[in-house]
Amino acid sequence: MNLSRFRCLGCQAAYPLTETFTECPSCGALLDVESDLQAFGRSGQEWRDLFDKRRSALPSEETPACDMSGVWRYREHVLPSLPEDKIVSKPEGNTRLYPGRSIAGEYGISRLFIKHEGENPTLSFKDRGMTAGISWAHHLGIRNVVCASTGDTSAALAAYAAEVAEMQGVVLVPDAKITSEQLSQALHYGARTLALDTDFDGCMKVVAGLARQFPLYLLNSKNSVRIEGQKTIGWEAIHDLGWRVPDWFVIPVGNAGNLSAIGKGLREWLSLGVIEKKPRIAGIQTEAADPFYQSYLTGFTKRITRTAAQTAASAIRIGAPVSHPKAEREVKFFDGIVEKVTEMELLQAAALANRHGLAICPNSAVALAGAKKLREAGVIRREDLVVVVATAHALKFSSPAIAFHESGQEGANPARKVTATVEEVAKALGL
Ligand code: F0G
Repeated sequence: MNLSRFRCLGCQAAYPLTETFTECPSCGALLDVESDLQAFGRSGQEWRDLFDKRRSALPSEETPACDMSGVWRYREHVLPSLPEDKIVSKPEGNTRLYPGRSIAGEYGISRLFIKHEGENPTLSFKDRGMTAGISWAHHLGIRNVVCASTGDTSAALAAYAAEVAEMQGVVLVPDAKITSEQLSQALHYGARTLALDTDFDGCMKVVAGLARQFPLYLLNSKNSVRIEGQKTIGWEAIHDLGWRVPDWFVIPVGNAGNLSAIGKGLREWLSLGVIEKKPRIAGIQTEAADPFYQSYLTGFTKRITRTAAQTAASAIRIGAPVSHPKAEREVKFFDGIVEKVTEMELLQAAALANRHGLAICPNSAVALAGAKKLREAGVIRREDLVVVVATAHALKFSSPAIAFHESGQEGANPARKVTATVEEVAKALGL
C-alpha cells in the first residue's frame, strides 16, 4: 500500500517517499512524512486492541523480530508502505517505564515516571529512529548511509547498517567531543568513522554537503523517515500507562528531532482517536547549548543559533538545531514550554537518579532537572502525571560521572584509594 508521501513544511509540495530527499528540492525547507492513516478505517479502540494483542503475544522461534519490537508493534503508524520483509530490527523499544517514586518524593511530583530509552540495543533512543531509517534504506536498495553525530546516532547507524549485507555506515563525529564509549560503538560495529576538527554543527554542515554531492543516504533526524520511528517513544509510554495520557512529557532537546517526533506521533494518535487527551510538552536544554530556549523566549519570532559550549551533556551540545521548525510547531500545538538548566542542576539530577539506581545519562538528566525546575515554578503541579524521557544509558557517559564524583560537590561519592590490608580497609570504613 502506498499510503505515505513527503510534504514540505514550507511550500507544501509533495514528493514520493521513494525519493531520498531530506529537504525540499524546491524551497529547501524540512520535509514531513505524511501518511493516510485514516485509510485503514479502524477506530481508536480497534487500534488499541490490535496493539494490546501484539504486545501480549508470547514469542516463539517463528516470531519475526519486528513483532517483538516496540517500534514495529505500531508499524501501520510508522511506515505503512514498508514491506515487512525489509524491516531491520534488533528488536528495539520495549524500554521500561520506571515509577520514579524516590525521586518524585524529593521533587514534590507525586506521579513521576521515567521512560528509560537507554535500555535500547545501542543504549539510546536513537535505535527507534534508526530501525525506521535503515529499514527504509534497505527497502530502497541503498548501499551507503551517513550521519553526523554527537555519538548516539552514529552508534545506532553503525549497529543497524551492520545488520544489512553490503550496507556500509559512514559517521562524522566532532573530534574529542563525544565519549569514548560512544566512539567505541561506531568502531566496533564497523562504521567508517571520521573525527572532524569542528563541533557537531560543523559536522552537520559537512555531512549535508556530502549527501548533496555524492550517493550517500543521510540518516540524521533531518531525514524525516527516521522521525517516524522515534514517534513510538510517546506512544509506548502511553501504552505502558495502560492508555493513560500523561499531563506532561519532559524531553531533553539538542537537534530537536526527538521532541518533533514525539509531538508528531501524539498529534496523529489524537486525530485517529487512539488517545483523546492532549498532553503538554516541555523541552529542556542545557545553559551551555540553549538556542531553542533563547528562540522560545522571543516567542519564536527569531530563530536564534549560537556556538554551543562544553557541557557534561555532550550529546546535546548543539548550537543550530536542524529540526527547530518542527519542534516549534509541536511546542505551539501542545501548549508547550521550553526551559534551560545549569550544569550544576543537570549533574545533581544525574547523581540523584543514579543514586536511586536509575542509570540515566547527563542528557537525560537535563530533562529531569527541567521537571524539577518546572515543579518549583508551579508550572508542573504536584498531582500531575509526568513522563520524563531519559534518552541514553549512564554507562555511555562514564567520564562526566566520575569527574562529578571526584569534584567534592554536593551529592558526590568519590572512590578512595586504600592499602590492601584488613586494617586499612577497616579504618577507611570506620569499623
Ligand atoms: N539525548 C541524547 C542521549 C542524545 O544523543 C541526543 C541527540 C539528544 C538527547 C537530543 O535529541 O537531537 O533529537 O533533540 N543526539 C544526536 C546524536 C544529536 O548525534 O546522537 P534531539
